[in-house]
Amino acid sequence: MNTSRNDMPIGFFDSGVGGLTVLKEVKKLMPNENIIYFGDTLHVPYGEKTKEQLLDYSKDILNFFQEKRCKAVVMACNTTSSTIYEDIRSKYYFKIYPIVQSIAKIIGKTQLERIGIFATPATINSGAYQKEIAKYNPDMKIYGRDCPAWVKIVENNTSENPDCVEIIKNDLNTMLRMNPQKIVLGCTHYPFLLPVLTKFAPKELFIDPAAYFAHSINADLILSGLTRENHSENYEEFYVSAEPEKFKNSAKMFYDIESEVKVIKF
Ligand code: DGL
Repeated sequence: MNTSRNDMPIGFFDSGVGGLTVLKEVKKLMPNENIIYFGDTLHVPYGEKTKEQLLDYSKDILNFFQEKRCKAVVMACNTTSSTIYEDIRSKYYFKIYPIVQSIAKIIGKTQLERIGIFATPATINSGAYQKEIAKYNPDMKIYGRDCPAWVKIVENNTSENPDCVEIIKNDLNTMLRMNPQKIVLGCTHYPFLLPVLTKFAPKELFIDPAAYFAHSINADLILSGLTRENHSENYEEFYVSAEPEKFKNSAKMFYDIESEVKVIKF
C-alpha cells in the first residue's frame, strides 16, 4: 500500500454549507481521513447560475484541490453533478465522485414506482435525475420540483422564520399532491430543513442521499486501495470564498467546525 497516497486529503465542495451533510456521513465511515472542504459562498446559490458560470467556478475549485494534492474529490453538490460533471470528470488526476449519478443508481434499483425530487432550478432543468434513474428503471415516475428559496433559507439560517416555514410548506404541499412514495432531497442543503419538513409530512417519506452517497464513496475508495488506515492525527481544513463567520454559524446544525474557516479567492 502506498502510504503517502492514502494520507492525501479528500476534497469536498459545494456552494456553501450543504456539502457538510455529506462530509458528516463520510466521517462516520472514514474517521481517519484528512479533509479539505470548500464552500463557494461568494457564488451561492449555484442553482441559479448558468452552465458556463458553474464550469468556471468548478475549474478554480478543482485546481485548488490539485494544489492541495487531494487523492479524490467529492462533488457534494447536486447542481454541479447535474450540469458540469460530464465535462470535467476526466480532466484531473483524481477521481471525482458526483452525488446525483451515485444516488440515481441506488434509487433506480429500488421497486419504487413514483418518486418526487426536490432540487435547485438548475438541477431540475438539467433533467439529470430523470436521465440517470432511467438507466436502471425507465418506468419509474419522477416528479421534479425546484425550490428556489430553500438554499438561501439554509445559508441565512432562517428556517424557523414563519415566512420561510410557509414557503417550505407550500412547496411540500405541491409535491404531496403528486402522491410520491418517497421524496429525494436532491440538493445537499435541503436536509438542513428536515426539522421543518417533518412538521408537515412523516420523516420516512424523505430520502436524504448523504448516507447512501457516503457508503458508495467508501466502497470505491476501499476498492481503489485509497482509504487512510493510519490512526495518527488527521486534519480538516475549511475554506470559503466569502463570509467565513456566517458559514460557521449556519454549519452548526450539521457540523461542529473546530478549526478556523479561511477565505480564499481565485
Ligand atoms: N447544495 C448544492 C446542491 O446540492 C447547491 C445549492 C445552490 O447553491 O443552489 O445542488
